[in-house]
Amino acid sequence: MGTNRRKFLNSLLGIGGIGALSAIIYPIMSYLVPPKIAEVKVNSLKVGPVSDFANINSKIVKFGRTPVILLKDNQGNFKALSATCTHLDCIVQFDNEQQQILCACHGGRYDLTGKNVSGPPPKPLKEFNVNIIDNEIRITSQEA
Ligand code: FES
Repeated sequence: MGTNRRKFLNSLLGIGGIGALSAIIYPIMSYLVPPKIAEVKVNSLKVGPVSDFANINSKIVKFGRTPVILLKDNQGNFKALSATCTHLDCIVQFDNEQQQILCACHGGRYDLTGKNVSGPPPKPLKEFNVNIIDNEIRITSQEA
């Protein structure tokens, strides 16, 4: 009788121990091996009306999960480039004074076509298409 009770209590303690261990290990494993989340494929993004750029000449928008810098030059033409620096993935910004794209992380610079012109960036910024349809700015990927 006492042996059965001892076995029963040991079983309960064992189950509790396994449960406690699982409660510790599962979050650690979830952190180390995150679940795969399917990336939503974005082909086109409506940024807004052209009039939004009346007083600004750059804006960073999200194209899916990709930050894109939308630029307006002095002639009113728009250009969209990846806002992720090709050096170490910092987010670039428009330098209105120099009329260049600046990466503040390590001083990388790109011209307004996205070409890397100084600093450590090894290659140009990826370009996106910009179309204006019914006075609304639309960005599309150049990849088919
Ligand atoms: S991350 Fe942009 S220059 Fe280094």
